[in-house]
Amino acid sequence: MQLIPSTAAVPLADTPPVRPGLGELTRDLGLVYGCDYNPEQWPREVWTEDVALMQAAGINLVTVGVFSWALLEPRPGELELDWLGDVLDLLHAGGIAVDLATPTASPPAWLGLRWPETRAVTPDGVRLSHGSRNHFCPSSPVYRERAMTIAGALVSRFASHPAVRMWHIGNEYGQVCHCDLCGEAFQAWLQRRYGTVDELNRAWGTSFWSQRYDDWAEIVPPRAAPYLINPTQALDYRRFASDQLLALYVEQRDLVRRANPAVPVTTNFMGFHPLTDYWRWAPQVDVVADDLYGDPADGDSPLRQALANDLMRGLGAGQPWLLMEQAASGVNWRAHNPPKTPGRMRLDSLRAIARGADGSCFFQWRQSAFGAERFHSALVPHAGPDTRLHRAVRAHGAELRGLGRVVGARVEARAALAFDWSSWWAAEEPAAPSERLRVLDQLLAYYRPLWRAGIAVDVVHPGMDLSGYDLVVAPQLYLVDDDGVRTLRGVVARGGVLLLGPFSGVADTDAHIRLGRFPVPFADLVGGSGEEFCPLPDGGVPVRSATLGDFRAEVWGERLRLDDGEAVATFAGGDLAGSPAVLRRRDPSGGSAWYVGTLPPQAVLDQIVSRCVVAAGVVGALGRSAGPGTVLPAGIEAFRRGAVLFLLNSATEPRDVPIGGSHRDLLTGAELSGCVRLGPDGVVALLEEASPDAS
Ligand code: GLA
Repeated sequence: MQLIPSTAAVPLADTPPVRPGLGELTRDLGLVYGCDYNPEQWPREVWTEDVALMQAAGINLVTVGVFSWALLEPRPGELELDWLGDVLDLLHAGGIAVDLATPTASPPAWLGLRWPETRAVTPDGVRLSHGSRNHFCPSSPVYRERAMTIAGALVSRFASHPAVRMWHIGNEYGQVCHCDLCGEAFQAWLQRRYGTVDELNRAWGTSFWSQRYDDWAEIVPPRAAPYLINPTQALDYRRFASDQLLALYVEQRDLVRRANPAVPVTTNFMGFHPLTDYWRWAPQVDVVADDLYGDPADGDSPLRQALANDLMRGLGAGQPWLLMEQAASGVNWRAHNPPKTPGRMRLDSLRAIARGADGSCFFQWRQSAFGAERFHSALVPHAGPDTRLHRAVRAHGAELRGLGRVVGARVEARAALAFDWSSWWAAEEPAAPSERLRVLDQLLAYYRPLWRAGIAVDVVHPGMDLSGYDLVVAPQLYLVDDDGVRTLRGVVARGGVLLLGPFSGVADTDAHIRLGRFPVPFADLVGGSGEEFCPLPDGGVPVRSATLGDFRAEVWGERLRLDDGEAVATFAGGDLAGSPAVLRRRDPSGGSAWYVGTLPPQAVLDQIVSRCVVAAGVVGALGRSAGPGTVLPAGIEAFRRGAVLFLLNSATEPRDVPIGGSHRDLLTGAELSGCVRLGPDGVVALLEEASPDAS
């Protein structure tokens, strides 16, 4: 069996043009309704009951074997696969499809004991132990070979099993190791990126603090050090660590593909995960799949989940994606874990479907009686099926069957939100002007008014083709490479609207500061330019604006001057008094560019975004009748997927939403027109009766 060398670079897009996708499953299953299933935790008689209960709940896909390595290979080279074969047979006989996992996320104790170098090392030099999970080193040739061997054994035995409709490689790739093997792999990755040590010295700026390297062998991962680490070294290590995990995924994926090219292969993403650059991962999966654990105690949970959903749709270039894991009720891993109500469980699940998912799955089927996740909720709780939670699970399965019409339907978005992992990593390196300016906070703040107005937004990479978007918002794009500069400038050149948030366009791909008046690559577009980043004193400073109304700016300011643009808002106090806080310039193309050099209160930012929406001619899910940029009743989300208009109410009170015309709610079959009343956690999926799809 051929191993990809541990140092392999993973190209951005080498996927053949036509690969099986989620359509392979939804063609006959309809919307996927599924869960992780860990039968190894239960005696066989429970398996039979499980299948019967799954059928009753409408479950049509289960992910099996994620953490089964130690049971499948209890001693090195000794395989016990029969029990898994029995599980697959049973599920298949019950009409339940399987997403079969390679069990490589959690190696057995024997691997780490016999080969200690297979265990990951922290930046402080501590080698992690077995007894939990995910303790492997991604660069260890022994780990990689053993992982390929157990994956290969499953492929040989089960690739043609009729139950197996998808493969699930590993689980939640997202760890970092700092051992010597990773150090060597990092050196090789750097050689491929930079070619010569001189070029590395240039890119890393090693003339600073006597960090010059004479040989690749001198370079180490960022480890415990007396003071700040070279920021480009740290950034490259994050890039490398993500690629290194991706190489693990790719080698197992290819093993599976060779055996059965018609079956889609995936692994589970984790939203805005800080350790994996999913723009590089997404082209390598046949199905974009996400694990999303909204916090029921967080009032912004609907907003955060919507943004994560939109990220998944963006990663898959608009293809249907799969909500692979969510909690049916509480999780066990926050400090305080209030349960989700059944209504909230349903709302979160339907939000994902509204936003482009062709299936909704949960972790896990049956709540564990032992182990670290014994208090994590599941579809069948400890108390059994005669519970409020399980009744809600059944009801949700039944209503999903009514939503067949959205399967495969696309979302039409004319607005985009630019986000890049390298930029996030570089922006939040230590020793910047302020640690209080956080990329994800900015992303949410700029996304919030778009979400509130029911405007479809794709999360995009700044360097991709943006020609389909009339409005592009880059809330905090600190690092932009030259491709990103070109495509973002292209938005305005085509007559579109570009909205840039603070501390954007600052650095290049090496995380070197672009020299000149900032935002260097966009200053001419926004009609003004800056010379100093000025974090604001606690309590903020006053800002005057005839357009937006006066406000206090917090946390962040910039010393800007007006060139040929307009000052939409101007600092009116402190050292920045008289300096523009918000800039705008209308371009001869008819487009415009905005630059927000501060953190306005949310209500002011809402106005800025709303003006950009109007200027771009972008409309919300309720169309122009509700007015472009119109805010929906508080707590209402509106989202259109294909011909279906979803309305969701996460408020604690009922809300009335004008919908005009006559519609059928696909979830209940009810005929609705004029105005629809949604109770708390209420959801409707409306198909206009006049629609050609309505029959
Ligand atoms: C992740 C993992 C699962 C489980 C859940 C619990 O999503 O993939 O194995 O641990 O978290 O929330």
